[in-house]
Amino acid sequence: MTATLEAILDRHARQAHRLVQILHDVQDALGWLPPEALAAVARGTGWPLARVQGTANFYSFFHTQPAGEYRVRFSDNITDRMAGSAELMAQLCRQLWLEPGKLSEDGLVSVDATSCTGLCDQGPDLLVNGRAVTRMTPQRVDEMAGLIRERVPLDAWPADWFVVEDRICRRELLLDDPVAPGKVLRAALSHGAEGVLGEILRSGLRGRGGAGFSTHAKWRACRDAPGQTRYVVCNADEGEPGTFKDRVLLSSRFDALIDGMCVAALAVGASQGFIYLRAEYRFLLERLRRRLSQRRAAGLLGRNILGKGFDFDIEIHLGAGAYICGEESALIESLEGKPGKPRIRPPFPVTHGYMGQPTIVNNVETLALAGLIALRGGEWFRGIGTPASSGTKVLSVSGDVARPGIYEVPFGVTLAEVLAEAGGSDAQAVTTAGAAGPCLAASEFDRRICFEDVATGGSIMVFGPQRDLFDVAHNFAHFFQHESCGFCTPCRVGTSVNARLLDKLANGRGSPYDLDEIRRMHHLMQGASHCGLGNTATVAIADLMDKFPATFQRRLATPDYEPAFDLDAALSQARQLTGRSDAGAHLQSNQAAMAREARP
Ligand SMILES: Cc1cc2nc3c(=O)[nH]c(=O)nc-3n(C[C@H](O)[C@H](O)[C@H](O)COP(=O)(O)O)c2cc1C
Ligand code: SF4
Repeated sequence: MTATLEAILDRHARQAHRLVQILHDVQDALGWLPPEALAAVARGTGWPLARVQGTANFYSFFHTQPAGEYRVRFSDNITDRMAGSAELMAQLCRQLWLEPGKLSEDGLVSVDATSCTGLCDQGPDLLVNGRAVTRMTPQRVDEMAGLIRERVPLDAWPADWFVVEDRICRRELLLDDPVAPGKVLRAALSHGAEGVLGEILRSGLRGRGGAGFSTHAKWRACRDAPGQTRYVVCNADEGEPGTFKDRVLLSSRFDALIDGMCVAALAVGASQGFIYLRAEYRFLLERLRRRLSQRRAAGLLGRNILGKGFDFDIEIHLGAGAYICGEESALIESLEGKPGKPRIRPPFPVTHGYMGQPTIVNNVETLALAGLIALRGGEWFRGIGTPASSGTKVLSVSGDVARPGIYEVPFGVTLAEVLAEAGGSDAQAVTTAGAAGPCLAASEFDRRICFEDVATGGSIMVFGPQRDLFDVAHNFAHFFQHESCGFCTPCRVGTSVNARLLDKLANGRGSPYDLDEIRRMHHLMQGASHCGLGNTATVAIADLMDKFPATFQRRLATPDYEPAFDLDAALSQARQLTGRSDAGAHLQSNQAAMAREARP
């Protein structure tokens, strides 16, 4: 083990800020992160052991306990659940004699659920040892259980299981014919930094990661900030449930992203860039790294790009399973080897970002569009879309639609148009920003997708008339409980309380008091949370409660307060042991349970 660890540490120049990447390599080599390995990493990097442990324990995809030769994680997004993922996971656990989340006694396999894996257009899906398996069926589960029991290596599993499709259903600018390599760079270098910034300003480009911040304002602030060096960071963390457009852009238009990052680097004066790739997209990593090497060899990346004296290189940093790392300051913490906890802002990354230096963090789609703007000009871009939302938006459409996939639409189209194109016109509700944004009812489908009306990061999840929307709220509450980073109390406690309240309603013990409590949590968390996760964690749930009150009313067991804990049910085992089912052995209030148990 020592030689392996030493080689890994050397490969990363023993730099503590590379800790997340070091831990990935250690886990790949050893199957998990044993205490001796963490101690060796601490010695090798010079960080205190507690700090190394803090990072290892923070991320869901790091195992500080043995996790098995086969580590299976079913995507637990609501769209996967609608497609039967919970039943498939239960089936696999039964066949392998396993409890979810526990390692099998022979140390062979563990099966668990994980937050949305970004494959919602081809679910139910799972990750096995980090590799994506799409379109799961009961037959595949049967076969998979057999392959695991027989210890068949993943490379010998049916190859078609691992096929991840890029389902591009509508193309406009970005997804249209790719631009020939070098064209964007030549145009950008001929404009120069100020020229590029001018085109970005004219284009009116706004960030596609959700907040819609002006790209020009961000780049200008970074360029003007004092610093020894500057960085360009591409946010490819894409953890919002129901979003998978960045996966498709990375897979189908990676050159456009590289071009866009080069353009950004030229504009702000950076020579180093990072792509923060979510761990769930690890299956893309090798291919993306290969393409970066090809670009370097072709003089389109690295030193002296196109012979014009412009140096800029890109490194891919792999995340480790934490939705919060999509938040830009948490992402930077993670890039620096730490747990992904959002920083206190100001100062903002544009002045104090990666390693304390001016840094821009932009979404994949924003950067790819910036490359096109450098080539075709800001005026051209401004001519598409609406006055405050120029250009196009790439949408990930999933759920109850005939044609799930990626739709690139000009800003300003109505939701009804998108639903008609995707084959989901009979929807009763649609979430437009994943689990973290509003939920629109059918009466609102004439609203337009643009920053002036329905702003969206691109996650459109569609719920047909047959769905119980309570399940959506319940799934979202658990998602946020799991993903809260725990840094601030309103979110850490609020997301847990919320999940428990929805559990209580799901278990048939809800009362109007609980609905009021959920609303109280919504107001409290929105005002008091430290970052966007806590501020938005209850938005969709509150919207569902407002727009579909009957869905929640149906879950109320009593007009009076009921405790979540069912004491009478808990006593049933004692009654069985003592052979009693008389009134004295029951709580007074629970006559129904008494009648049930009395039945022969
Ligand atoms: C909890 C949380 C998760 C986020 N996840 C992402 C993400 O996966 N991808 C992304 O581009 N932005 C995400 N953001 C927004 C980023 O913080 C940041 O605003 C964005 O990357 C800026 O890029 P843009 O200006 O190009 O939109 C997230 C924000 C929050 C609060
Ligand atoms: S709001 Fe939630 S995710 Fe954000 S810092 Fe607080 S605990 Fe962490």
